Amino acid sequence: MRPTPHISVNSPGQIAETVLMPGDPLRAKFIAENFLENPVQFNAVRNMLGYTGTYNGKPVSVMGSGMGIPSIGIYSYELIHFYGVKNLIRVGSCGAFQPGLKVRDIVLGMSASTNSNYANQFGLPGTYAPTASWPLLRKAVAVAEEKGYPVKVGNILSSDIFYDADPEAWKQWAKMGVLAVEMEAAALYMNAAAAGVNALCILTVSDSLVSKEALPAAEREQTFTQMMEIALSLA
Ligand code: HPA
Repeated sequence: MRPTPHISVNSPGQIAETVLMPGDPLRAKFIAENFLENPVQFNAVRNMLGYTGTYNGKPVSVMGSGMGIPSIGIYSYELIHFYGVKNLIRVGSCGAFQPGLKVRDIVLGMSASTNSNYANQFGLPGTYAPTASWPLLRKAVAVAEEKGYPVKVGNILSSDIFYDADPEAWKQWAKMGVLAVEMEAAALYMNAAAAGVNALCILTVSDSLVSKEALPAAEREQTFTQMMEIALSLA
């Protein structure tokens, strides 16, 4: 096995079939050190830290995705096509579009609308609907219900734009029932679908475009732990 341009792995088995992907590589390090047993670092190219360990004895990896569709597009493609990864679970944050969604709430992205042109590469004669894989989504919902963690399940927006020239543009998506905005899920879902593997995006609401409320960094811990328990149960 040869390393790919963005992941420096030489031998098979260094990356588990299930990979959790937070945006921030330091968050990957935190997850490895606090949630995995015996984590071993497998990547540091561009500081996009990746680790493999076990959770309840099962192999699981965690690696940063970076921010945005091009970044997660690259890393997820290499993980799937060169390292045999079968389950890719994004764990991230989102901005709420709906008044019923509050900071700390957990969102499961059943589908991911997007303003990105990423789908163009597949040459489809219409509009593709990037969708989570049902086995992962179903299990995540079941685990959340079992643990008593309330989750909202629905359409999210994977936006190419954080600082939009039109600060009201999000309202059009909100009118269509889109729950929240993040910046990666649509590419992850498309790469997974094109390769016949599984993907899911699990998010915690860090801010609300409706109420302008934002979660202070220090208060993110508890919800983050709940999201991680759901994500790790999918390994
Ligand atoms: N926009 C895009 N991504 C995000 C946001 C947002 O407001 N909040 C958390 N991730």
